[in-house]
Amino acid sequence: MSYDREGLLAAAREAMMKAYAPYSNFYVGAAYLMEDGTIYSGCNIENASYGAANCAERTAIFKAISDGRRDFKALALCGGPKGVVDKACYPCGICRQVINEFCDKDMEIVVGTKDGYEVTTLAELLPHSFSKDDL
Ligand code: THU
Repeated sequence: MSYDREGLLAAAREAMMKAYAPYSNFYVGAAYLMEDGTIYSGCNIENASYGAANCAERTAIFKAISDGRRDFKALALCGGPKGVVDKACYPCGICRQVINEFCDKDMEIVVGTKDGYEVTTLAELLPHSFSKDDL
């Protein structure tokens, strides 16, 4: 299960710079690596009606799902004020639940920092989750 973490993070960073975030000025980018090496990336997209905002992780995962893909292998993301990444930007609660719908609990989630990255999993971020297996 080896892959290029820095490369995936670079795709997330590139997506981050496309953020539409005029209200929070907080830019986020996400990139999912698929089993065949394809990358689906996305940014956060805000709205004058604040609640209509969409996070980067969901923009990217919805692009993949709507393209007929389910073979997620890893996720990288980063975020910061106007795209300046300092501390790690972990997925919000709603995104954790959406990731939980489609991705393996042990899939790596690489979170960019000022000088590098931190690595975690959904198992760590969303313990005791409610999922389709509970229905
Ligand atoms: N945001 C994301 O895109 N992903 C997260 O996991 C955290 C928050 C966005 C939503 C909003 O556009 C901005 O960051 C500030 O909350």
